[in-house]
Parts: sequence; structure tokens; C-alpha cells
Amino acid sequence: MYACICHGVSERRVEQDAREGACTVTELGRRTGAGTGCGRCHDRLDALLGRLRDQRAPPEPEALAAK
Ligand code: FES
Repeated sequence: MYACICHGVSERRVEQDAREGACTVTELGRRTGAGTGCGRCHDRLDALLGRLRDQRAPPEPEALAAK
């Protein structure tokens, strides 16, 4: 599925760039062009980056204590 239609950037490509360190829409734009056209995808890109960040975040100490 495309994350940015203007530049044909897929969600998979965004995930790859996020794994390689991109953590803002601006950084994604520098790497792929995503978000540098009409701008309609900014919310989608931001949500995708946030979801990927949450997946990578270490568990909260309270969550570890409950185990
Ligand atoms: S859809 Fe991403 S810049 Fe237009």
C-alpha cells in the first residue's frame, strides 16, 4: 500500500527508512520525497512512524514488573 501517492512511496519503504533511523516526516521527505508533494500524506506518514516507534520502544518498567 502506498504511504505517499505523489511519490509512489510504499509503507514498506517507510518501514525500511524508519528502521534505518528516519523518525520524522521531514527526514522521510529527504530520503524518499514522501510528503514533499501535495502534503496530504503527512498525517498518514506521521501515524506510521509513530506506530513503528511504539513497536520498537522497550516495555515500560511497570509492564515488566507485572510479569
Ligand atoms: S500524497 Fe504524499 S505528498 Fe502527496
